[in-house]
Amino acid sequence: MVGKKVIITGVPGVGKTTVVNEALKKLKNEGVEYQSINFGTFMFEVAKSDNVVQDRDQMRTLDRAVQKRLQQRAAQAIAQISGNVLIDTHASVKTPKGYLAGLPEWVLREIMPDLIVLVETDEDQILMRRLTDETRSRDKEGSRSIAEHQQFNRAIAASYAMMTGCTVKMITNADFLLDRSATEMAEVLR
Ligand code: AP5
Repeated sequence: MVGKKVIITGVPGVGKTTVVNEALKKLKNEGVEYQSINFGTFMFEVAKSDNVVQDRDQMRTLDRAVQKRLQQRAAQAIAQISGNVLIDTHASVKTPKGYLAGLPEWVLREIMPDLIVLVETDEDQILMRRLTDETRSRDKEGSRSIAEHQQFNRAIAASYAMMTGCTVKMITNADFLLDRSATEMAEVLR
């Protein structure tokens, strides 16, 4: 299928959606187009139609086998989309029973990304963003736990690069420096 497949990841609340939206505005002005897709939304549509959850934040508490089925069906649907595609998802998901790979073999085989981006920032900034976002039901965790999750994401992204031959790029989305991270994101998408 023609076009680039780029996966955007980052722990919840790091601001990946915000950075992507700003980068896409910059690229649109230059005539570079991407279709932006949220993996969680595709999973949620499947989960709702199977009657297993009422809201998207419940998905990470589901049984591992159920999450696997949702991931697989979402990946199959996304693989059908042609052109440049940007997939907003998670390198790993923090579940009550430990980290779940967001891009296991059955997802990567379908999508075969060209690039994986890790959006990161200081764990204290992420904690503050979560605490001030009233629209979502965020997990209650401290900054040390957020730091561990970001570290785990780097490790698991390396294994995704080994499996697919894609490149891995880290972008820092620091407070008050959104334009800098959006410019860096636009550069890798160009
Ligand atoms: P998803 O929909 O991706 O939810 P999320 O992880 O909570 O991500 P968000 O998009 O809500 O947060 P964000 O990091 O993009 O931050 P935002 O831009 O909003 O996933 C939902 C669920 O789907 C998951 O929990 C999981 O169950 C499931 N799922 C998804 N993919 C999966 C997979 N592959 N396998 C298994 N399950 C999967 O910004 C946050 C806040 O920060 C905002 O208030 C914003 O204004 C602020 N902010 C952003 N940038 C800055 C900045 N530079 N300075 C100051 N403030 C900033």
